[in-house]
Amino acid sequence: MTSPIVPLALRPSWKALEAHSKKLGDVPLRKLFADDPTRGERLAIDAVGLSLDYSKNRVTDETLDLLVKLANESDLRGRIDAMFRGDKINVTENRAVLHTALRAPRGTSVVVDGENVVPEVHAVLDRMATFADAIRSGTWKGFTGKRIRNVINIGIGGSDLGPVMAYEALKFYSDRSLNFRFVSNVDGTDFAEATHDLDPAETLFIVCSKTFTTLETMTNARTARNWLTADLKYEESIAKHFVAVSTNEKEVTKFGVDRANMFGFWDWVGGRYSMDSAIGLSTMIAIGPSGFRELLAGFHAIDEHFRTAPFERNLPVLMGLLTVWYVNFLGAETIAVLPYDQYLKRFPAYLQQLTMESNGKHVTLAGERVNYQTGPIYWGEPGTNGQHSFYQLIHQGTRLIPCDLIGFRRSLNPLGNHHDLLMSNVFAQAEALAFGKTADEVKAEGTAESLVPHRVFEGNRPTNVLLADRLTPEVLGKLVALYEHSVFTQGTIWGIDSFDQWGVELGKVLAGRIVPELESKGEPDLKHDSSTNALIRRYRAAKGERSS
Ligand code: F6P
Repeated sequence: MTSPIVPLALRPSWKALEAHSKKLGDVPLRKLFADDPTRGERLAIDAVGLSLDYSKNRVTDETLDLLVKLANESDLRGRIDAMFRGDKINVTENRAVLHTALRAPRGTSVVVDGENVVPEVHAVLDRMATFADAIRSGTWKGFTGKRIRNVINIGIGGSDLGPVMAYEALKFYSDRSLNFRFVSNVDGTDFAEATHDLDPAETLFIVCSKTFTTLETMTNARTARNWLTADLKYEESIAKHFVAVSTNEKEVTKFGVDRANMFGFWDWVGGRYSMDSAIGLSTMIAIGPSGFRELLAGFHAIDEHFRTAPFERNLPVLMGLLTVWYVNFLGAETIAVLPYDQYLKRFPAYLQQLTMESNGKHVTLAGERVNYQTGPIYWGEPGTNGQHSFYQLIHQGTRLIPCDLIGFRRSLNPLGNHHDLLMSNVFAQAEALAFGKTADEVKAEGTAESLVPHRVFEGNRPTNVLLADRLTPEVLGKLVALYEHSVFTQGTIWGIDSFDQWGVELGKVLAGRIVPELESKGEPDLKHDSSTNALIRRYRAAKGERSS
């Protein structure tokens, strides 16, 4: 193994990959498949209930060998062990990174600062279960004695995207006698629309915030408190209608939520890695404690696979390495995630924070400017909707966009032949993207000469096809963990800190400075650039006109 301090671009495997990418160049997938009739069977992995067909990637066995060498030379094994062991691998915040401990089975041990955290994790899960059962059964009553019918999660980023994605993904298993809503945006519209038809006496707010200081969340939480107490008249009503999920007990109690109604987690859980902590309380209320435990079991199954499977057969490692291949050697700038399941409609949005807040970094762990690309842009929409929207560009545009297509063998809502139609599109899109249609094939269809170039599909567009049996809580846990560890693999190769997010700070600070400038009665002494000054003046002028 080469020491990880060798800069990435100087590692032997990196140089070999550079040379190899030039040699492999544009060798079409058509040829790779023609040369090896077993390719489709060979370049596929079935593991822990997921199957990944990665044969339609622009890789050969040599590419894969070199990528695995790159992982070894980047000490991926050592980094995985360090993460699972609880080393403080989030160096800029001096924190352990232990979302894997959130799904460690009862009775196991993960030691942080000399203490086994697994019993504590399960103690919180048990309290969550008691609370979730009380809401689901109706034994927990609102202040006026009415049953809780509406659960509103207030949070943003990781304190929102995980809960809302999981709620949508697992709606099939959700208690339909309860309404779930999610408020994240500081735009008052979000709160107003989420509550306009609800009775405060039947509404529970879960305020989720790791820090309990986030502007958007605290603003929405205060608005919620006013909305509730304006109707129920007594401050005491808060105890029955507010619970908090946070690491910050002091701020939670200051806000007025009793410690007894607080569910904790720990600084070693990153916001975007927290949907399986108490941040998942709304998920647990929706699908019940046993469903939530299935979700955790799914996460854990992938953790174990990631920790133990050889890199050549390791799903997240392969997916991460393929991303590095496309980003650093074939010039891809984005990755599309295309779930062929309506329940996964928020999955791409969830992945955007997971992937881009993690790997959108321009310096290495040592603080040196990287001289290679890091995190790609992740985006997507559920198929088949995307096909009638942006797939045109993927098929015939000028950019290389590797795609992950996600499908299920069985539908949760088997209606007529819908599922066969849906899945036929998964397979057809992967086929069309890979093999395209040549000019000769287009001509053979009798196409007018002038139209031939327009109807050619160059193909050679790579895809991963990821299949599972059915979308269950366990499978959702597996899918999320798969991307978590793929992100980790990428970040390890790039030598960056995938667990901090300093890039969100500057905007927050500047907004904090601008708020009083928008609200002051007298003309503020603006000291920004001329554009920002002018924008603020225009806004203030319009505000003045509205209030006059
Ligand atoms: O966007 C920055 C961020 O810190 C995310 O990492 C986090 O998920 C989100 O804000 C919300 O933070 P909190 O849970 O502390 O309110």
